Amino acid sequence: MRPYVRTFRKHCLVAAMLTAWIVAGMAMPGRGNHSGAAVASGSETATQGQIREGASLFRANCSLCHGLNAHGGGRGPDLTSGRWLHGSTDAAIFRTVSQGLPGTEMPGSNIADSETRAIISYLRSLSPSSKPGVARDRTRGKRIFFGKAACFECHMVSGEGGGLGPDLTRVGASRSESYLIDSIREPNKELSEGMIDPNNPYGNVLVYDSVTVVTRTGERISGVSKNEDTFSVQLLDRNQQLHLLLKKNLESVTHERKSLMPAYTTEILNDADLRDVVTYLESLRGTQ
Ligand code: HEC
Ligand code: HEC
Repeated sequence: MRPYVRTFRKHCLVAAMLTAWIVAGMAMPGRGNHSGAAVASGSETATQGQIREGASLFRANCSLCHGLNAHGGGRGPDLTSGRWLHGSTDAAIFRTVSQGLPGTEMPGSNIADSETRAIISYLRSLSPSSKPGVARDRTRGKRIFFGKAACFECHMVSGEGGGLGPDLTRVGASRSESYLIDSIREPNKELSEGMIDPNNPYGNVLVYDSVTVVTRTGERISGVSKNEDTFSVQLLDRNQQLHLLLKKNLESVTHERKSLMPAYTTEILNDADLRDVVTYLESLRGTQ
């Protein structure tokens, strides 16, 4: 309803301006149409302009970590959820952006105050401020994670849990809400990747696909490959046993683009449970 009303009003304004031009044009034949148009759009879209400025400043300074549209980009959290771990007032966000967050990857910046304010307007324009606020319970989410959903059996958080899936200690610092929801509801949609050696950015990438090996004696083992080269493969099976296997002793090694994580459908995890689990995951910004 709202956008329609606004466009309608804009049309009225344009119509009024047009009439004004025509009248003015007839009265003063030497004057061009452009000056009138500039005045109209200039005052109407002052904040739109600021949001646009904020968007391009964001792209240049922040998108490397927070993603092009601020939905989280692998190194920095989603900034569009409307939930702020470090303070939600303009003043608090201003402080975060200008001073950074010591002890995290979030750097301070030396862009002008007016530019920082433009970035905040841009971020505010992305937040779902008009959505009715649904109560979210992080503590309940944590209880489900370590309780009935048994997520911890495959995931480590701050040193606690299993190792079949990726460590989630910092997942909230880099993933968007929609990515987290997809990861739980449809694990096969996008498989996680990680570095085998976190200290070597040029090292091998670990893809969490499903690997099945058949040994020369006919034994089948499936799990996640923690490392693989021409001669060997390290396989973590579903019981979290690590197998170090030499390829010369294997019949076959098969990779399938499939997650070892079960899809948590609404029957297993209803929407309210999912919301609280995601709220818990978003709050995970610890150090690995
Ligand atoms: C080098 C990567 C990096 C860059 C560049 C970066 N950030 Fe961040 N930012 C982070 C990380 C990581 C966090 C999460 C810190 C934490 O909570 O552990 C963060 C957190 C934030 C937060 C706090 C979110 C909250 O929940 O309260 C805001 C706001 C923010 N960044 C805005 C920006 C803006 C605006 C820019 C550009 C001027 C920017 N960041 C540039 C990595 C980055
Ligand atoms: C049987 C083991 C297993 C269980 C149980 C499990 N996961 Fe996973 N999870 C995985 C594996 C393996 C991956 C990596 C492959 C993929 O992307 O699905 C994964 C990936 C993820 C990711 C993506 C992480 C990233 O950064 O890419 C999230 C988030 C996640 N799981 C959350 C959960 C939650 C929440 C639960 C409980 C509701 C859960 N998992 C239960 C094995 C499991």
